[in-house]
Amino acid sequence: MSDTQKTFYITTPIYYVNDAPHIGHSYTTILADVLTRFHKLAGEDTFFLTGTDEHGQKVQQAADKAGVSPKEHCDVYAKRFQDAWRDLNIGFDKFIRTTDPEHIAYVQGIFQQLWDRGQIYEKEYEGWYSVGEERFFTEKELVNGMDPISGRPVEKVREKNYFFKMSAYQDWLLKYIEEKPDFILPDFRRNEVLGFLRQPLNDLCVSRPKSRLAWGITLPFATDYVAYVWVDALFNYRSAVDGKVFSGGAPVWPADYHLLGKDILTTHAVYWTTMLKALDMPQPKHILAHGWWMFDNARMSKTTGNVVNPMSMKEKYGVDVFRYFLIREMVVGQDASFSEEALVQRMNSDLANDVGNGLSRILKLAATGLESRLTPVASVGEEAAALRKAAGEAVAGALEKVKALKLSFAIEDTLQLIRAVNRYLEVKAPWKLAKEGEAGKGKLNTVLYHAAEALRIGFSLLHPVMPSKMGEALAALGVEYSGVLGAEPSITSLQWGKFGFSRPLGQGVNLFPRVENISGHAAGKSKAGGTLTDGAAPSAPVDPFSLVHLKVARIENVEDHPNADSLYVLQLRIGEEARTVCAGLKKHVGKEALLGQDVVMVYNLKPANLRGVESRGMILAAESEGGKVLPVSPEGAASGDDVKATDTPFAPKADLTLKEFEKSPLTVKSGLVCYRDRPLQSPRGPIRAQAADGTAVR
Ligand code: MSP
Repeated sequence: MSDTQKTFYITTPIYYVNDAPHIGHSYTTILADVLTRFHKLAGEDTFFLTGTDEHGQKVQQAADKAGVSPKEHCDVYAKRFQDAWRDLNIGFDKFIRTTDPEHIAYVQGIFQQLWDRGQIYEKEYEGWYSVGEERFFTEKELVNGMDPISGRPVEKVREKNYFFKMSAYQDWLLKYIEEKPDFILPDFRRNEVLGFLRQPLNDLCVSRPKSRLAWGITLPFATDYVAYVWVDALFNYRSAVDGKVFSGGAPVWPADYHLLGKDILTTHAVYWTTMLKALDMPQPKHILAHGWWMFDNARMSKTTGNVVNPMSMKEKYGVDVFRYFLIREMVVGQDASFSEEALVQRMNSDLANDVGNGLSRILKLAATGLESRLTPVASVGEEAAALRKAAGEAVAGALEKVKALKLSFAIEDTLQLIRAVNRYLEVKAPWKLAKEGEAGKGKLNTVLYHAAEALRIGFSLLHPVMPSKMGEALAALGVEYSGVLGAEPSITSLQWGKFGFSRPLGQGVNLFPRVENISGHAAGKSKAGGTLTDGAAPSAPVDPFSLVHLKVARIENVEDHPNADSLYVLQLRIGEEARTVCAGLKKHVGKEALLGQDVVMVYNLKPANLRGVESRGMILAAESEGGKVLPVSPEGAASGDDVKATDTPFAPKADLTLKEFEKSPLTVKSGLVCYRDRPLQSPRGPIRAQAADGTAVR
C-alpha cells in the first residue's frame, strides 16, 4: 500500500455502562460502520473505534446497588454492547474500555504532562455538586435550587480540586472554529458552539477527591484524587490509537470524524479541543453532531424510558432492514422520528418493490432454464447505453454524497439506478423474448446482462448499508469478488463490465418479503387507539381515512404509457424520494400543463402493475366544471409535505388497497377538497380543486 493511500479514522462516543444498548447508541454505531464500509469500498485504509465509558459515580452507585464490584458490573455491560454490535453486523477495529490498563496508563501520562506544563493548578472550591451530572454548578446556573439539567437536588460541597486552564484557550478556540467552517458540523451546531464561546469561559475542574468517588483513574501527582470522568473518557480517542499507524505508515491520529449526539457537543467541541491544544496535539478533522431519534415526538432515551429496543426491531424485520431504515430515514444532523410503520413502509417500498423486485425478475427468467449464466455483451441500443450511463452516474453521485455525509441522498441515487433497471425490464419485456425460444436468446442475454450488471453495481453501492443482504443478492447474481461468491465489493466493483458473472444465477431468492401488517408489536398501535391491521380494533372502529397517507408530490417527467392510450407515466418527486405513477389524465390535460406541477398523491397505496408499468401510488384528481379531469392543487405546499384532514386521526397503513382507500369519500366543497366536511390540508395551506360542490375526488 502506498504512502499516498487515503486513510479514514472514525469514532463513536464511548457508551456509559449504566444502560442497555438502545436506538441512540445503535444509530451512531451503525452510522460509523456504514461510513467506514463506504470509505473502504472507495479504496481507503480505515480505522473504526467504539467502546465503553466505565468510570464515574453512576457506575459506582449501580454496582453498589447490584452488590457487585464496579469492575464486575462493567464487564457485564461491556459485553452487552459488544454482543449488540456483533448482532448488528458492526465491523469495528477496536473496542476500547476505559478500564483497560493501557488506557489508564495513557490518561495518567496525559495528566502528568498537563501538570508539568503548568496547565493544571489546585484551588479550594465551593459549589453546588450534582451527583447525577457528576459536576459542579454555580449558584446562578441552578434552576429553583436544583440541577438545571436533571432537575434533581444538588449538594453544597467545599473541597480542594485540580483545574485545567481552559479559559486561556477561549480566544484561540473561537478563532479556530471561525476559520474552519467544516470543523464542527452541521453549520447550525457550529453556530451554537460559537455563541457559547462568546460568553466567558471558566476553567475546568478535572479531579474528584477519592473520599467522594473512588471509581476512577488516580491522578499521578495527587494520589487521593481521581480524574474527572469526561477527561478520562475523551482521551479514549487518542489512547486507543497511541503509536498506531495505517498500513501506508501514516499515523492514525488525528481522527477524521468524531460522531456524537448533539447533547454531548460541548464536551467535544470545547473541553476536548482545548486540552489537545494545551498538549500541542493535532485537532480532529471534523466533529459531527447528529440529531435525536424521536418517538411520538418525545426524545427517546434512558431518562424518559421510552426506548425502542433495537434488538426487537432487528429480530422482527432483520438486521439489514433496521440498518437501512436508520440510515435512510435520518438526514445527518437533523432529528428524525422512529416508528415501526415508517420502517415497514420503507421496507415495502424501497426494499421489497425496488431492490428485491429487480433481482427476482432476473432470477425468475433464469429459472426457465434459458439463461442460467450471463455472458457480458456490448451495450447495443439506446436503452442499454442509457442504463450503463445511469450506473456511472449513480456511482459518482453516491460516492460524492457519502463524502459530504449525505447518506440518505446517496441511497436515493442508488435506488434511482435500481428503479431504472426495473423500468428497463418493463420496456424490454424479456419475459416475451423468453417465449421466442432460440430466436430470442441473443436479445434476452443482452437485456438480462445489462439489467444484472446495473443491479450488481447498485447492490455493491448498497453493500455498506446492508452487508449481509447485499452479499446474498450478489451471490444470487453469480458474482465473485476476489474469487469469493458474494464477497465484499471493492472500488473496481463499481466499474461497468469489470466483472463477469462467473457462476450460474441463483434460484428462489426472496430478499425482502413484503410485510402486510405489523400487529403484535407495541409500536404498531396508532395514537388513535386502533391498531394498523384490518379489523383488529373491534371496540373502537377505525376511521378509514386515518389509514390513508396523502403527500404532496412534484411532477418531474411525463411520458405516454407504452401500452395504454389513456395513461401517462409520471415521474414524481416526494421530498427526497422518486416514484413512478400511472395516471389516467391523457385525454384531459397536456403534458406541458402537468410538468413541474405539485399534486397530491395517495402515498401508501399498494403498488399495482398497470399494463406492464409498476405504479406506486395514485394522484388525486376531480372532474372540473368543463368536464376535464384535473389534479387537485396543494396551495403553497412543498413536495414531501403530508396532507391530512382536519380533526382526523392519522395512522397510515402499509400497502393500502384501492378498496380501503375508497372507503373514505373525498368531495369538493366551495373549491376545497374535503373528507366528510373536513378540509384536507398540507402544513402550508388547503387543497383546492376547480370543481362544483359535491364533485368526487379520487
Ligand atoms: N459516555 C458519554 C460519551 C463519552 S464520549 C467521550 C455518553 N454516553 S451515553 O451512553 O449516554 O450516550 C452516548 C450517545 O448516545 C450520545 O451521543 C447521545 O447523543 C446518543 N443518544 C442517546 N439517545 C439518543 C437518541 N434517542 N437518538 C440519537 N442519539 C441519542 O454520553
